[in-house]
Amino acid sequence: MAQRTVVSMPGDGIGKVVLPEAVRVLEAVGFEADYVHADIGWDSWVNEGNPLPERTVELLREHGLGLFGAITSKPKHEASAELRPELQDKGLVYYSPIVSLRQTFDLDVCIRPCRSFQGNPLNFIRRTADGGFEEPPVDAVIFRQNTEGLYGGVEWTDPPEQVRSALATHKKFGMFADTPGPDLAISTRIFTRHRCHRIVRAAFEYAAKHGYRSVTVCEKPNVLRETSGMMEEEARKIQKEFPGVQHWSTNIDAQMMWLTKNPEDYGVIVAGNMFGDIVSDAFAGLVGGLGFACSANIGDQVAVFEPTHGSAPKYEKLDPPIVNPIAMILTAAMMLDHVGETDRATRVRNAVGAVVAEGRVRAYDMMKLPGGPDVIEKGAATTTQLTDAILEQLV
Ligand code: NAI
Ligand code: MG
Repeated sequence: MAQRTVVSMPGDGIGKVVLPEAVRVLEAVGFEADYVHADIGWDSWVNEGNPLPERTVELLREHGLGLFGAITSKPKHEASAELRPELQDKGLVYYSPIVSLRQTFDLDVCIRPCRSFQGNPLNFIRRTADGGFEEPPVDAVIFRQNTEGLYGGVEWTDPPEQVRSALATHKKFGMFADTPGPDLAISTRIFTRHRCHRIVRAAFEYAAKHGYRSVTVCEKPNVLRETSGMMEEEARKIQKEFPGVQHWSTNIDAQMMWLTKNPEDYGVIVAGNMFGDIVSDAFAGLVGGLGFACSANIGDQVAVFEPTHGSAPKYEKLDPPIVNPIAMILTAAMMLDHVGETDRATRVRNAVGAVVAEGRVRAYDMMKLPGGPDVIEKGAATTTQLTDAILEQLV
């Protein structure tokens, strides 16, 4: 096997803590790769005026495979205020580099598996009719369209006249027509058939390959008739190629309710950008939350793997670090799957599962403790100890 090169982008805060832990696991499981560091995030913004430096984009273009930790984002004006003095007043505008990455490389397929590990004290439990409790096993894999929809960035406050007059051609615009420009905010939700097709196809292919019985389109076609409607339409067409996989549909609001009633019924779920973000966070909450939530951003040429959590600045300076490395380690396992190293990926997940099941070594979140330096004396493992325990279970 040719040696691979992984572009390592720890980013900010706890991204710098958890990414090296995942690399330790990748090395221990025998994945042969070189890691090249690439800058991304707050320091690059403050010092260079660009949180996603061109050299990082070039490295990803060259190697096609990226492992990303987390970045710190701040609102536009706060971000500008923190720029180095020489960069102030140059009209630089902050954009989240991970959103830019997804758009630069058209990483339009986002995959977020939410699977419960047996014995995780953070797993969802439900009361039974006889007053007892049960713990339904959750195994949902969310496919989120990653580049368009409400995240497309086509938006205005005080839209230009051409936009207003174009909107006025729609009869429903009548109720907004008298609103003064500065009081009118518009964020668009643009779906293209090509990308609806790609995300829905990716979901069906995954379901068929991994033996899921259904793909649920989680949208709102009764109200968002054009955009959600287009995704539904593509799903109906594509399902015909996958007779072994049923096409189900839920509305995003109803799905949030069913989430805690019957989460075990859902397998693969596919949604647009915003609803995909919502439904994946919701399912992640049933299986342990941010300490367990992993994801992949996949395009035709480049793929970037990242835990769902952010940079958790509250914890970045704690020494020893206490955050849970499992989300990042499961993210690395997704990268292994992507490059065809499925045996190694399974070994990593099994090792995580064994540590969780044993319950001897737990991060503070798994002990339901508020985070802080005192969690260690309360019995929580450090980040490194938890990784060490996973390494011991690698077979
Ligand atoms: P966050 O995900 O960084 O942290 C929220 C809370 O979740 C933390 O206080 C912590 O209690 C917990 N948490 C997160 N990761 C954990 C882990 N691995 N183990 C144990 N507990 C963990 O989100 P927050 O606080 O809303 O945002 C902090 C910064 O991160 C902001 O600047 C935000 O913009 C950025 N962010 C970046 C993301 C990314 O890089 N993709 C995603 C989400 C937020
Ligand atoms: Mg999110």
